[in-house]
Amino acid sequence: SKRWVRMMTAQTPTNIAVIKYWGKRDETLILPVNDSISVTLDPDHLCTTTTVAVSPSFEEDRMWLNGKEISLSGGRFQSCLREIRRRAGDVEDREKGLRIGKSDWEKLHLHIASFNNFPTAAGLASSAAGFACLVFALAKLMNAKEDQSQLSAIARQGSGSACRSLFGGFVKWIMGNDKDGSDSLAVQLAHDKHWDDLVIIIAVVSSRQKETSSTSGMRESVETSLLLQHRVKEVVPKRIVQMEEAIKNHDFASFAQLTCADSNQFHAVCLDTCPPIFYMNDTSHRIINCVEKWNRLEGTPQVAYTFDAGPNAVLISRDRKAAVQLLQRLLFYFPPNSDTDLNSYVIGDKSILK
Ligand code: PMV
Repeated sequence: SKRWVRMMTAQTPTNIAVIKYWGKRDETLILPVNDSISVTLDPDHLCTTTTVAVSPSFEEDRMWLNGKEISLSGGRFQSCLREIRRRAGDVEDREKGLRIGKSDWEKLHLHIASFNNFPTAAGLASSAAGFACLVFALAKLMNAKEDQSQLSAIARQGSGSACRSLFGGFVKWIMGNDKDGSDSLAVQLAHDKHWDDLVIIIAVVSSRQKETSSTSGMRESVETSLLLQHRVKEVVPKRIVQMEEAIKNHDFASFAQLTCADSNQFHAVCLDTCPPIFYMNDTSHRIINCVEKWNRLEGTPQVAYTFDAGPNAVLISRDRKAAVQLLQRLLFYFPPNSDTDLNSYVIGDKSILK
């Protein structure tokens, strides 16, 4: 009969890179020019919830994002769907008296509904959570027996940074060497309880969508920036080792120094790109100044900052006390809806509001 539907729902948080991925060596497979390291956020805040459904009554693959239908014709969606279908297994659902064989998945169509619990256009790395969640939900639906790292290599083909959202805690995306990308995948460095003191606060400087997409930005940087070549060869490999060490030892001073330096170098690469790319704005720069001055005053870093392809500040405090002080400072110097375009704060650890 055509009347059955099988569904699966998954929830995936976004991640923030502390050693940035910037530049692809293969655009189709999404293979990066360097390793990167990220921290996965608390799922209660910035996360995607995706429900995938399969039924013989569906006539084509379709997807809705925040209730609005979007096209699945793009190469990245197609890569993810193809790779997961290829790995699909047999599914038995005794309750429904259902058996879907491996080969049936090629003929069956999918409906996908995805929701972000944060504004999609806010430039808050929504594609990372989105593709990770899509791949994870599909793998469950289709009983694909792949481990998280193998799934990460599929999510990577949706959006590079998505591969890191398959794990919680601290995650490394290993760039890999293979031409086919099979060894370009994410591994967990430390689980989510490993460094529990850290509190992440995101200052939403602007909710406008970024002007230069990361895809075209990276392409231009790879083609024109000499600083990027230096970064990839001389800087990142050392930082990756140091960052892993800092995370392992809960060494906040090194963690903060590396995180801030790497964000600043990423934005320097953007400026070194022809034509130059500006992701940060005046407010972003003022936030950097404020944190740098405070850290200097304290003698030891209290807060690390990092910015992705947009002006929003991701601030990582060493503990709850520093987070409260940070928030007080931010609210004093950057009151929401004042002369700055800063409009809200997202707290990475909800307990701070209690
Ligand atoms: O995966 P993309 O195309 O969204 O690129 C992400 C690039 C940065 O966010 C700037 C850095 C990173 O490592 O996440």
